[in-house]
Amino acid sequence: MPSILFIGAGRMAEAIFAGLLEQPKQTFNPVYVSNQTNRQHLKKLEHDYDIETVSDWEEVAQKVDVILLAAPPSAHPQLLQQLSPLISGQLIITVAAGIGTSDMEAQLPKGTATAWIMPNTAAQAGVSMSLYTVGAHATAAHKQFVLNLVHAIGEAEELTEAQIHELTAITGSAPAFVYEFALQLQSIAKSYGITDAQAKKLVTAMFDGSAQMLKSELTAAELRDQVTTPGGATDAGLKSLNRDEFQASIARAVSAVTDHAKKKRN
Ligand SMILES: NC(=O)c1ccc[n+]([C@@H]2O[C@H](COP(=O)([O-])OP(=O)(O)OC[C@H]3O[C@@H](n4cnc5c(N)ncnc54)[C@H](OP(=O)(O)O)[C@@H]3O)[C@@H](O)[C@H]2O)c1
Repeated sequence: MPSILFIGAGRMAEAIFAGLLEQPKQTFNPVYVSNQTNRQHLKKLEHDYDIETVSDWEEVAQKVDVILLAAPPSAHPQLLQQLSPLISGQLIITVAAGIGTSDMEAQLPKGTATAWIMPNTAAQAGVSMSLYTVGAHATAAHKQFVLNLVHAIGEAEELTEAQIHELTAITGSAPAFVYEFALQLQSIAKSYGITDAQAKKLVTAMFDGSAQMLKSELTAAELRDQVTTPGGATDAGLKSLNRDEFQASIARAVSAVTDHAKKKRN
């Protein structure tokens, strides 16, 4: 069974190894986890999960099959430099925003197998929509390792590296837009005299129901039209949103995410 080392032990690393360890059939063993400085946190993780924590990851990196970088994007240049002399056939995966397989290939020894996974925060609940791609030197077996990882935290879609750069705004950042929308609806609901808990229940169940309906055969446009009688009350609300450039506003928000990420890369 392949072994895996996580470099970085924050929210995303924990979501992924927790998902892996919950799978009915174990896919990686052992699972090593390390971080930069927070040894207390490693102790807690070792207590909570069937993992081995390591303070000096360089020694372990040489003997594992897969190394998953779950440290911030800013730590990657240094980490890839540290990893380079230790590479002898391991698959190197990153979950860092904006760090694609070609970025890693450029900094690792020629021929290194790489992959890029872009999950979202719902990974913590096992319902991430993750995007992934594998680098030029990844084999079918490497791709299977990547599939095991992404399916342990939810749904996944393979895209090109360029598409992941563009679509991280939709799967990674748009959940924040959804939460902002929920926040505004909850706040309006509360203004009618209900409690925080009631407002949360109303809005959360409405989102949950809408998400379930979106999974049906019907398109988003058909579902919208089911709710909307032409000339009726919901129609008045939609027209108001459109007068306020709802569609253009969403398009601008998505572009703002992508443009910002691009600027940080260049
Ligand atoms: N959170 C998300 O929803 C999400 C979604 C998609 C992708 N990501 C990506 O996932 C990565 C981690 O995000 P996160 O939310 O898990 O962050 P986090 O909770 O802040 O955790 C970051 C982890 O990286 C470790 N670390 C930092 N610098 C390091 C270094 N030089 N060497 C080894 N370990 C180092 C930290 O260790 P110490 O605590 O010891 O400093 C910590 O364990 C980021 O690249 C982010 O872009 C996150």
